[in-house]
Amino acid sequence: MSRIAYVNGRYVDRRIAQVHIEDRGYQFGDGVYEVCEVHRRAIIDETRHMARLARSLGELRMQAPLSPAALAIVLREVISRNKISDGYVYLQVTRGVARRDHVFPSVPVKPALVVTARAVDPMKLAATAEAGIAVVSVPETRWKRPDIKTICLLPNVLARQAAREAGAAEAWFVDADGMVTEGAASNAWILTQGGVIVTRPCDTGILRGVTRTTLLDVIAAEGLALEERKFSLAEAFMATEAFITGATTLVTAVVAIDGRPVGEGRPGPLAQRLRAKFHGLAARSA
Ligand code: PDD
Repeated sequence: MSRIAYVNGRYVDRRIAQVHIEDRGYQFGDGVYEVCEVHRRAIIDETRHMARLARSLGELRMQAPLSPAALAIVLREVISRNKISDGYVYLQVTRGVARRDHVFPSVPVKPALVVTARAVDPMKLAATAEAGIAVVSVPETRWKRPDIKTICLLPNVLARQAAREAGAAEAWFVDADGMVTEGAASNAWILTQGGVIVTRPCDTGILRGVTRTTLLDVIAAEGLALEERKFSLAEAFMATEAFITGATTLVTAVVAIDGRPVGEGRPGPLAQRLRAKFHGLAARSA
């Protein structure tokens, strides 16, 4: 249980932590975020997450709330004050507080920063990975810039809710051409019957997942066949294996898509192998 949050310069009890009602994140969803895995007290792939944060901020012409060095200290402080050994650290930056007006504040305001952390039980995560998850497909309804990790997540929220109501754990967005883009909070992968791992390229309407990038390193190190190309939902139905990647799921096997079993309907050897190898190649920063 996380008890301490960092809010705009102060470490506060989470129950009384507050942001201003005219924070532009609250008013417009005018902000960006990152979620990093914490594994055995270390932040996983921090450099890649911070590089993506800088990019998201730049794309939205927002200032960084702190220097990279100061932000690194805050992340560690929130992790340590909450005694997180395994879990996640969440950070959110918004454009700041200003009278409600769609245009950027004419007088620059300080961006707002909130950092929280949450523990997860590694045994529970492992149990989910061993069972695999079901996914459902939903139409792609998002804007054309999902490469920016913005807090505007309403389509993702609705997609995850649709998944939940269908007894699934994740939703895969499918574009107008029938091609899978990505999950509501994860990237999507398949293993074809020909033994090739396929995932959608990042320049075509998806988030460049940090877990995805590190998994590409694992795949290269293992000498496995990979194609970065779009794949259709129809192709996913025929796949030998399917899986998702994300900071909160690492590599998790998909055992059913829209109620149809993938392969034998249980986690396949590839997803299990990639999951087992993941932390060996991911960067750890204490
Ligand atoms: N989501 N695609 C989307 C739409 C995501 O929201 C995420 C992560 C990913 C995977 O990115 P990464 O490997 O860097 O976590 C892909 C986080 C975990 C979330 O919203 O909670």
